Amino acid sequence: MILTVKSKETPSSPKSKGKKKWEPRIVGITCNWCSYAGADLAGTSRIQYPSNIRIIRVNCTGRIDPLFVLRGLELGADGILISGCHIGDCHYVEGNVAAKKRFEFFKKILDEMGLGDRITFEHVSASEGLKWAEVVAEFTNKIEKLGPTPVKDLSNLTDLHVDETESKKHKIHEVLLSIAKRVDYEPKKVMIFEPEEVMEGYGFPKRDPDKCVGCYGCFSVCPENVISLEDVEGKRKYGTLHTECLVCKECEKACPQEAIEIVPGFELLSYMKNEPLWDLEVELQKCSICGKHFSPIPFGEELKKRLAEKKAVKAIDGLSLPFEPYTTCPTCKREKMAQTIAEVAQPALTTGKKS
Ligand code: FES
Repeated sequence: MILTVKSKETPSSPKSKGKKKWEPRIVGITCNWCSYAGADLAGTSRIQYPSNIRIIRVNCTGRIDPLFVLRGLELGADGILISGCHIGDCHYVEGNVAAKKRFEFFKKILDEMGLGDRITFEHVSASEGLKWAEVVAEFTNKIEKLGPTPVKDLSNLTDLHVDETESKKHKIHEVLLSIAKRVDYEPKKVMIFEPEEVMEGYGFPKRDPDKCVGCYGCFSVCPENVISLEDVEGKRKYGTLHTECLVCKECEKACPQEAIEIVPGFELLSYMKNEPLWDLEVELQKCSICGKHFSPIPFGEELKKRLAEKKAVKAIDGLSLPFEPYTTCPTCKREKMAQTIAEVAQPALTTGKKS
């Protein structure tokens, strides 16, 4: 039995004449084994607490999909209270540890949007009926002070159906963008989350600028276009799109320089703007013939070094090519080769011509 009472009016409660007084709408998500039982105990013990909370019971807090919380906020909940067993008491061993990690990650994002105070994670055991009542009363009070949710416009809500062609991460991203739009949140600065701050499955390719030569092997194997390239004024920029990384490590395997590593982490600006975060720049080689920039200088140098190790430089140098092999762009190389072949072939053709 869950027993609640109507919350009391507080001086800060927004109200308008003739209209029904605003009451916070709070969603409670509790685990079955501890907090739901604690809420039940509060009811059977006739401990009264605000009736603003509507409880959803799940087996374990580990079952709480971040979408439950995000969608609740998108739908206009004024507050969301998650409650589960104390650490060490989870009936599924570490479900609450995983849930708390996910919670902290999304709370940090929601903090940026001004919604972080509207979610909370509590530990209430089956024997803590009184604590449950206090936790609910305290959170309700806090939400009353904060006022109604700033999330506006409940039209065009995200379709929550996750089909086979879409990943859960994409859906989470979609809902976060929808919330951001409804609270007029505009990310302005780069905000990097440390490895211990992100939930499992969130990571990105980190480049070692001292090792990376700009060969773009990582770019060509990435299945999700996480790695971006852009040539600007004689330089090639390398960027990372933090929305898309699958943490598949294909780029890591493809890098001949061991310059890239998938690390747990996250960057909010790139994520919310869906734009790459440019994190490396290398100088491009200028073509000795046409003057166009074409390939990263460190890449050419590395190639030369590797050929030398394989004793192949002499072979290339001995070819007496009609162009400088490392400083000529592919288009000019092709043209020079074609021109040379034509020059060599022409006399032969002329000589062999029947009169
Ligand atoms: Fe209560 Fe896992 S069973 S948090």
